[in-house]
Amino acid sequence: MEETKITGDKIRLRKMGKKDLPDKVRWYNDPEVNKTLFLEEPLEPGKTLEWFDRIKDDDSRIDFVIDAANGKPIGLAGLVNIDRLHQTAEIYCVIGEKDWWGKGVMLEAERLLIKQAFEKMGIEKIRAYAHPSNIASIITMKKLGFKIEGTLRKEKKIHGQRTDVICAGLLKEEFKPL
Ligand SMILES: CC(C)(COP(=O)(O)OP(=O)(O)OC[C@H]1O[C@@H](n2cnc3c(N)ncnc32)[C@H](O)[C@@H]1OP(=O)(O)O)[C@@H](O)C(=O)NCCC(=O)NCCS
Repeated sequence: MEETKITGDKIRLRKMGKKDLPDKVRWYNDPEVNKTLFLEEPLEPGKTLEWFDRIKDDDSRIDFVIDAANGKPIGLAGLVNIDRLHQTAEIYCVIGEKDWWGKGVMLEAERLLIKQAFEKMGIEKIRAYAHPSNIASIITMKKLGFKIEGTLRKEKKIHGQRTDVICAGLLKEEFKPL
């Protein structure tokens, strides 16, 4: 059974709630944050609330807020497209408070989530997707044990431009917990 709170060294993960949506909108609408995300449109508060009402009981995903040790929300991380039959899931991480970039937060957040996925949720393989320019994300994935499985060529269309997507995969036995 999955946990709703996971405590690490410099961060804690807790299940995302309605009260976190204004932060999500602000973070995703920051051009520096979304330049490596695959978003076509800015997030809009009303639609984000509708989205949350649709997904809050969806058992194919689990969304966490990343809180700093002092309790300040600094980003989001989660598992989506959880497939119980094939025991796979896709991981994501967005650090919205940019003064927390460069401190290894993605590494710790994803490590905590992956541990939960493999040890408590019966997941056996995790996928991750990254924009080709997202060096921080690609380096972090490799540190966790992910292997690049390929490039999805011109997979997404963002602001009229087609862009490649880097696809990585992590098997349970390849995970580097520390
Ligand atoms: C991607 C993101 C989560 C990474 O956050 P982070 O944890 O702060 O990552 P870091 O800056 O610590 O970088 C991770 C590693 O990559 C290295 N790195 C980052 N940019 C680099 C570059 N341009 N060249 C070489 N190395 C680089 C860092 O040095 C670090 O390695 P180290 O710890 O060994 O020094 C964060 O930038 C973010 O939220 N961006 C916007 C949303 C996003 O793109 N999410 C990911 C979607 S896949």
